[in-house]
Amino acid sequence: MTPQDIAKRAVAAAAVERLVAPGMKLGLGSGSTSEWMVRALGERVRAGLDVVGVATSTGTAALAREVGVRVIELDEAGELDLTLDGADEIDHRFRMIKGGGACLLWEKIVAMASRRMVALVDETKVVETLGAFPLPVEVVRFGWQATRRQIGQILAEHAHVEPRITLRGGEGGPLLTDSGHFLLDCRLGAIPDPPALEAALNRVPGVVENGLFSTVADSMMVGYADGSTRMFGPYASAV
Ligand code: 5RP
Repeated sequence: MTPQDIAKRAVAAAAVERLVAPGMKLGLGSGSTSEWMVRALGERVRAGLDVVGVATSTGTAALAREVGVRVIELDEAGELDLTLDGADEIDHRFRMIKGGGACLLWEKIVAMASRRMVALVDETKVVETLGAFPLPVEVVRFGWQATRRQIGQILAEHAHVEPRITLRGGEGGPLLTDSGHFLLDCRLGAIPDPPALEAALNRVPGVVENGLFSTVADSMMVGYADGSTRMFGPYASAV
């Protein structure tokens, strides 16, 4: 395992151990850190823990069922107690870029339906300023090139002059999200005002959602390459 994998596995295991309690309705994130988390949760469920999960992707749903976690639909669950999910970048105010794994829409819906969302990241994901990771924007297929032009205009209004905006997968074989949409990846370098950009992008008609999660996580748990973990945020002293 790489040092990053060690950190991801450590934070996933620590989160399941310290944050999950019997009877909880859980949002289950997507990506490799979340995979470790779902596997750790499966171990606890097989040892008798009673929880249910709502998955943020078809892949996570399949893995959760495989390891023994009962998966239900979000509309069956109602409000969730806690969502545990990874991030591509996170700053010290717990603002994130997500969507590297193409699941940002379901991830945002599930996290917003939860009383708490804790981001699980390895130390390489923690940044001073968001934006080195390309910002994914989920768009409907109809008129996607017109939508891309309007996204370019919005980005220019937010001080991102001529950013590179690429269709994930390329025009020959574009990736489709679990909802059947395209993803546009925007290379920005730095995002000075994430909440303003998040709101502005979502006002473009063809945009379904974007990968800025400015007000979603209330805490983060960070894993380190030596296998240690640390919690940051309002509940840090309680775990
Ligand atoms: C998927 C995501 C993931 O949480 C993000 O890409 C982090 O992935 P990983 O845990 O593999 O580093 O947002 O859409």
